[in-house]
Order: sequence, then structure tokens, then C-alpha cells
Amino acid sequence: MAIFLLPLILSPILAIAQTVPQTASPPDIVSQYSLTTSTSIPFPTATTTNDDTQSFIKDNWSLSKGRIQNGRENLDFVDDPFPDSPTPASWDSSAPKGPVLRVTYPEGAFGSADSGAQFYSLWNTTDGSQFHSMLVTYEVALDANFTFVKGGKLPGLRGGPQPDGCSGGNAANGTNCFSSRLMWRTGGAGEVYGYFPNDDSKAICSQSSVICNSDGFGTSLSRGNFHFQAAHWHRVTMLVRLNDPLKSANGQITIYFNGALAANYEDIQYRSSDVINIGGLYFSTFFGGDDSSWAPSGTTHAYFRNFELWGAAAASNLTTSPAQLSATPLSSPAQWLFGIVAAIGGSFIGMIL
Ligand SMILES: *[C@@H]1O[C@H](CO)[C@@H](O)[C@H](O)[C@H]1NC(C)=O
Ligand SMILES: *[C@@H]1O[C@H](CO)[C@@H](O)[C@H](O)[C@H]1NC(C)=O
Ligand SMILES: *[C@@H]1O[C@H](CO)[C@@H](O)[C@H](O)[C@H]1NC(C)=O
Ligand SMILES: *[C@@H]1O[C@H](CO)[C@@H](O)[C@H](O)[C@H]1NC(C)=O
Ligand SMILES: *[C@@H]1O[C@H](CO)[C@@H](O)[C@H](O)[C@H]1NC(C)=O
Repeated sequence: MAIFLLPLILSPILAIAQTVPQTASPPDIVSQYSLTTSTSIPFPTATTTNDDTQSFIKDNWSLSKGRIQNGRENLDFVDDPFPDSPTPASWDSSAPKGPVLRVTYPEGAFGSADSGAQFYSLWNTTDGSQFHSMLVTYEVALDANFTFVKGGKLPGLRGGPQPDGCSGGNAANGTNCFSSRLMWRTGGAGEVYGYFPNDDSKAICSQSSVICNSDGFGTSLSRGNFHFQAAHWHRVTMLVRLNDPLKSANGQITIYFNGALAANYEDIQYRSSDVINIGGLYFSTFFGGDDSSWAPSGTTHAYFRNFELWGAAAASNLTTSPAQLSATPLSSPAQWLFGIVAAIGGSFIGMIL
């Protein structure tokens, strides 16, 4: 009896055994996942006025539709306001020490139209190849008087043919787009904020660290697993590997915060169509939220620097666990085979125990 039950208990446990280390630098992750192509976002060598900041970004950051979508007046290249805050989890001593990008969040403003700034920086490869795995790493600091209020967005990645969806309550549906940003919440609690085609029936929504929304808004992952502090530099590193095959939930998102593992999910379905790939950096930061209860009571700022990206054509090769597949039908012979092998493996372990 016990031998028959053990495979049922063990196979999901075996399948979700995590492969990611507790601490890692971007080069460690890049090597683990064979992310062989890289780029960095250029910064100027001297501070610039707001006009020149806009021109620099429009000229040099390969923007979707050639424009800064929102908040162009809130962007300035300025001197590092926290030169004595050490660069956390630093591995790259050649990283430029010049100006940093300051984003202004005006007093009383909320939402992407009025607070902060938003644009999509496309990573176009010279040979036209597409990315299905990507890592972005950057540093972020918040003003000494930054008040977190109820929350706000921070940059991440996005992809898919619809460059304006998958934010602001425009839901992901598996064929239009996905986005994966970070958020800060009250008290500086960090989380991943993803637009994936999730609804409450998805297996991922049953995990205690996941808050799904059925109203078209994003999914919150690992809220409070890491914390932002005012007047300090932080390093954010985000890895996204799209699900493959298309009908499976084996997509990955992994976050390292100051070099320490802060979130890891290996059961996300980003897409149901091969029109979705990963396009590049989604620079999106604002207070909110969609009403004035999210707005700061005084003007405040965040600072960003050293955006680096790595990518690969290969998508996730994680083996989907039978537990997750119960929500998404088994779609490939390889998945059936894995289910059988996992069950036999479970029985075998059951017999030796
Ligand atoms: C999955 O891909 C990684 C990175 O390319 C590789 O190191 C690993 O061996 C692959 N695993 C399987 C099970 O194919
Ligand atoms: C784009 O970047 C180059 C190299 O840093 C710089 O010389 C040029 O002025 C930038 N373009 C604009 C419009 O600022
Ligand atoms: C990158 O690709 C997009 C979409 O194909 C295009 O609109 C944009 O002009 C390209 N950017 C550069 C710098 O080539
Ligand atoms: C997905 O959303 C896009 C708009 O972003 C829409 O054009 C498309 O029809 C939707 N697809 C499905 C299958 O609902
Ligand atoms: C933060 O300090 C700046 C001056 O550096 C001030 O203009 C602003 O009102 C302050 N914001 C808050 C939220 O207190």
C-alpha cells in the first residue's frame, strides 16, 4: 500500500526540487543557463539637462516606437547622490561610475501617466535572432526621504507583439505580451509583479507566496521576501525563461536581490503562442496603483544605473511537474514520459526505503 502511495507523494516533490543557488552573481547565472549574448545600456559621461536626457535616451536606448512612452519630463542624468553607499553584490569593477538616471515622482501623482517614467528599450540583435531567455541586472537607489506609501513599480522585462499591453490592467492572454517588473510595497517590501495569463484556476495561484488577480491586473510573487531601503544602492537581478512547450507551465522567473535569492518560480506559463518572445528592458516606475491613496505627499526620486542584459534563444528546459500539469493538460510525449519516469522513480525510492 505504502509503495503505491509513495510515488504520488514523491513525484511532485522530486519534480519541483529547485536548481538555483541561494547566492549568485549575474555571471554565475549567465553561465548556468548559457546566456551567451550580452549588452549594456549606455549612459552619458557627464550630467545632462532634461532636454538632453530625453535626446540621449531616444537616440541611444532603442525605444519601442522611438519614444519615451510616459514621464519624459521626469528623467535627468545626475551625479550619484549616494557615493558612499557601496555597490551591493558588485562583480564588475569596470562598471561606469559616471552619472546615474534620476526619475522624479511628483507630489500627489500616481499611475504611469503622471508619476515617474515608462518606456520599452528593445534589444535588437544584429542577426535578427530572438530571445526566449533573458537576464537583466541593474542598481537602484531611493531618495533619503522616499516614502513607500502603498507601492509602486520598478523596471523588469517584457515581450510579445503587443508593446502597450500587459500593464495598467490590460491582461496578458498568452498571445499578446507578458511583463515582469518588481514592485515596492508599504514599508519597502519587495515583490515580483508579473502580467502572465494567470487566472485563479492556474496551479501557481494556489501557492501561498502568490497573489493572483482575476480582474486583468498582475500577479504578485514573493511579497516581502526582500526589502528596499532609502538612501542605499541595491542590485536587482531578474532571470526570465519562457515556457516550452507552449502549452506547459515550466516558465521560470528568478530574482536575486543584492546577490541573494529572493524569489524563484519554475511553473509559470508566459505564453501559449510562439509569437511571444522576450523583447528587452521594460523601464517602468511610478507610484501606484490607480487612485490617489497611492501618491506620495511630497516630490521624491529614484536613481538607476548599470543596466546589463544577457540572453539566449533557448527557452526553459525545466521538466514540468505532474502536480502542475494537472491544471494544464499534458501536451507532449516528453511530458508523459517524464510523468511515467517520475512515478517509477518514486516507486523505486519507495521500495528501498
Ligand atoms: C538545460 O539547459 C541548461 C542551460 O543551457 C543546460 O546546462 C542543462 O544541461 C539543460 N538541462 C537539461 C535537462 O537538458
Ligand atoms: C548617444 O550616445 C553617444 C555616445 O555616448 C553620444 O555621443 C551621443 O551624444 C548620444 N546622443 C544624444 C542625442 O545624446
Ligand atoms: C529595433 O526593432 C524595432 C522593431 O523591429 C524597430 O522599430 C527599431 O527601430 C529597432 N531599433 C534599432 C535601434 O534598430
Ligand atoms: C489577446 O489580447 C489581445 C489584445 O492585447 C487581443 O487582440 C487578442 O484577441 C486576445 N487574444 C485572445 C485569445 O483573447
Ligand atoms: C524630499 O526632499 C526634497 C528635497 O531634497 C523635497 O523637495 C521633497 O519635498 C521631499 N519629499 C518628501 C516626500 O518629503
